[in-house]
Amino acid sequence: MRRPTAEDVDAVFAVHGDPRTNVHNPAGPDRDRAASAARLHGWLEHSEEHGFGYWAVELADAPGVVGFTGVQHARWLDRPVLNLYYRYAAEHWGRGYATAGARHAVAWAAVHHPALPVLAYTTLDNIASQRTAAAAGLVRRPDLEVELNGLHAVVLVSSWSA
Ligand SMILES: CC(C)(COP(=O)(O)OP(=O)(O)OC[C@H]1O[C@@H](n2cnc3c(N)ncnc32)[C@H](O)[C@@H]1OP(=O)(O)O)[C@@H](O)C(=O)NCCC(=O)NCCS
Repeated sequence: MRRPTAEDVDAVFAVHGDPRTNVHNPAGPDRDRAASAARLHGWLEHSEEHGFGYWAVELADAPGVVGFTGVQHARWLDRPVLNLYYRYAAEHWGRGYATAGARHAVAWAAVHHPALPVLAYTTLDNIASQRTAAAAGLVRRPDLEVELNGLHAVVLVSSWSA
């Protein structure tokens, strides 16, 4: 996992512009390369400002980006959290990459931002996403779940003190 750069725009579009990686995303895939460039710009701004952010994931033994994961500052129910993110190219699914990346992100967050809950949210039908969050140690909290854009958001967190 490494910090992305502006050079990664084609990799961002390859992953985020693919309808297969957005079946459960109400916003749908990125429409064009410019949309992915704007997405990447937001990630780079976050990294510049906070010194961390979403990573590009590469395999040790093959060139190229297979996906993106990591944590960024966010808010949930008016509280600061670290949003756990993962989206991988469809041809690399089912090999444990998302689990490995999410576990690494959760472990990183526990060291660098121990006071912030790591939170993942997704739709009810995105079972792969829910299982990835659970495999990274997050626990579902129905009491934190809300409707987002007309859809029920399933929420899993690392912790959530009263
Ligand atoms: C979610 C996603 C990142 C999982 O990537 P992956 O590399 O296939 O995940 P892993 O191989 O590490 O598997 C993680 C868990 O998901 C489960 N899983 C993977 N694909 C699944 C599927 N199609 N249906 C049900 N469970 C699935 C695995 O069995 C595993 O669960 P387990 O530990 O209980 O066995 C990938 O499907 C993806 O990129 N989806 C599109 C983007 C997305 O939905 N991101 C989340 C936005 S909220």
